[in-house]
Amino acid sequence: MKRYRDVAGDGGSNIAGQVEAQQDQLKRRLASVASVVAIVSGKGGVGKSALTANLACCLALDGWKVGVLDADLNGPTQAKILGVRGRQLVLADGGVDPPVTALGVKVMSMDLLLADDAAPLTWDSPLQEEAHTWRGAMEANAVREFLADTNWGELDALLLDLPPGTDRLATVAGLAPALHGIIVVTIPSEVSQLVVRRSVTAAASTRAPVLGLVENMAGLFPGPDASRLAADAGIPFLGSVPFDPALSVAADRGEAFVVAAPERESAQALKRIAREVRTALQPRRA
Ligand SMILES: Nc1ncnc2c1ncn2[C@@H]1O[C@H](COP(=O)(O)OP(=O)(O)O)[C@@H](O)[C@H]1O
Ligand SMILES: [Mg+2]
Repeated sequence: MKRYRDVAGDGGSNIAGQVEAQQDQLKRRLASVASVVAIVSGKGGVGKSALTANLACCLALDGWKVGVLDADLNGPTQAKILGVRGRQLVLADGGVDPPVTALGVKVMSMDLLLADDAAPLTWDSPLQEEAHTWRGAMEANAVREFLADTNWGELDALLLDLPPGTDRLATVAGLAPALHGIIVVTIPSEVSQLVVRRSVTAAASTRAPVLGLVENMAGLFPGPDASRLAADAGIPFLGSVPFDPALSVAADRGEAFVVAAPERESAQALKRIAREVRTALQPRRA
């Protein structure tokens, strides 16, 4: 069996060339996207995905052309929340046409590529440390391909729903030719804020502007004030979204919550946050 040490150069597969070609395609593809925004949190379960989907709906309601890339490969949820689960992907123009929601949001997710009961991606390695490296590299490749191979068309904003973990942002920031904004999500708990504080530091160390901190599930726990966390970190506080079971029910049904229940306090809060985001990104629109 040939091992990597035995292979001179890259073994004739021109890997460097392939990566360069893909980078070129990525650049071409994102040339028609005004803003790429990552939604992050060191913590899982704080509502990153729900917030991403709802912000996308709010922006679409305001007439923005929006795409959502579900970069959570192991726990993809955007197809479900945005109600496009099970839709067929169509190959066209050298890429994949993403499913489009009733509000016009374009969605791409690993979930659209996997069979219903397929096992999640796992990273085979006898050593955990290696598995970590391997996972990082595989994830970066997969996200790069999703970005480069999806026919996003003209977009005002492409929202990236990242998996939990502080290291994820660096990977994505290194991928997209440019990241134009980062939104950090926390919940009112000391445990969450402890981790999220690190995410804020990670966000600040990229070149992308931090659009701000969102507190989700407000009122659920008697936790510390998130606006204080934002102030301490020197980033804008975008607002609080109350804990609201109706929001969760809409997500499970694949309904656009801000359309289904626009009168609810949580929906109003989401709209206010979307307005802040719009204002920050507006100068980038053509
Ligand atoms: N403000 C909220 N009120 C009630 N439920 C919420 C709220 N935000 C999110 N959820 C629910 O909490 C769960 C976790 O949210 P999710 O978006 O999947 O988190 P993450 O992407 O950070 O792991 C989901 O069932 C979601 O519908
Ligand atoms: Mg998620």
